[in-house]
Amino acid sequence: ELIPVLLSGGSGTRLWPLSRETHPKQFQPLVGEQSLLQATWRRLDGLAGAGRPIVVANEEHRFMVAEQLRQAGVAPAALLLEPVGRNTAPAIAAAALQARSGGGDPLLLVLPSDHVIRDEAGFRAAVLAAVAAAEGGALVTFGIVPTGAETGYGYIQAAAGEGVRPVRRFVEKPDLATAQAYVASGEYFWNSGMFLFRASRYLEELERFAPAMVAAVQAALAAGKRDADFLRLDRTAFEACPADSIDYAVMEKTAAAAVLPIDVGWSDVGSWSALWEIADQDADGNAHHGDVLALGCRNTLAWGGRRLVSLLGLQDVIVVDTDDALLVAARDQVQQVKDIVARLKAEG
Ligand code: GDD
Ligand code: MG
Repeated sequence: ELIPVLLSGGSGTRLWPLSRETHPKQFQPLVGEQSLLQATWRRLDGLAGAGRPIVVANEEHRFMVAEQLRQAGVAPAALLLEPVGRNTAPAIAAAALQARSGGGDPLLLVLPSDHVIRDEAGFRAAVLAAVAAAEGGALVTFGIVPTGAETGYGYIQAAAGEGVRPVRRFVEKPDLATAQAYVASGEYFWNSGMFLFRASRYLEELERFAPAMVAAVQAALAAGKRDADFLRLDRTAFEACPADSIDYAVMEKTAAAAVLPIDVGWSDVGSWSALWEIADQDADGNAHHGDVLALGCRNTLAWGGRRLVSLLGLQDVIVVDTDDALLVAARDQVQQVKDIVARLKAEG
């Protein structure tokens, strides 16, 4: 059995002002009609052996998550609510423990709920191609051929071979010089952030490298409460859990990592520029959302809200209009949007 684990706890501040803590990007229809969370579920349609998903989300988003899942026609096997964010390693541990609670040891397909994949059939084929290695005990990652020295990704050095192959080295978010060297070497993939492994294998490795985390998550589940369709992790126990990502806590350290390179039109929509790249563009490279009129523009992204947005004679500019905030940014500066968010937070 294969259980999809949908991670939906992030806050996606790089897509401000559209993505907010109260309404992060996974709940937004950034590409097409469905939200990214709904698209994550729909893309599994037709994946042989896939059961109902385990969804892990922040309790503040519980109604939005539940409503979006209902709309997408999915009844999750469990909807786990975190009282606070402790990053992905504990969230996945909670899902793994929950998945094992019935006595079985299913494969977990861990999926961020805020990515876009253009080639859905190719993605499902890749998952199936990784099943045998995961059943054999590997912690399988899905590698992307890098297109630049991005520092926001994990880097995976693969052993030689075809298909699923062992990982020589996994380095989470290297500094720029290191990332440049990795890309230049041609030996590294980006980590897509999706994983396939047996629930027991993840828990064994986490127990080895971060036993306090496993204990805290166990305690938070044991003292957790059922509330309608939700399973609420216990606040006191979960607050005591160390915070870390699966990448730092497990993938950098484990000897059981494997990687399957994929070419499926993946994007983590990590910035407005990334969204522009995957959006439908006109012949001049302009992408529009909502009520937009752009004349004499090139390579712009205009995201309209409730009123008309018009652009005249601009190049490489991003405009995002929402009810209470307007962003106008140079396209090559969009990584700094998080600085605006930090500034606004600091100023309260
Ligand atoms: N439930 C839950 N709880 N989900 C979380 C939490 C949490 O505390 N923190 C993050 N998530 C979710 C996010 O919503 C996202 O869907 C996914 O987990 C990954 O978290 P990010 O915060 O987006 O990670 P990242 O982008 O910095 O890095 C990861 O993804 C990259 C590819 O996009 C790493 O796996 C990198 O190695 C990878 O390259
Ligand atoms: Mg991310």
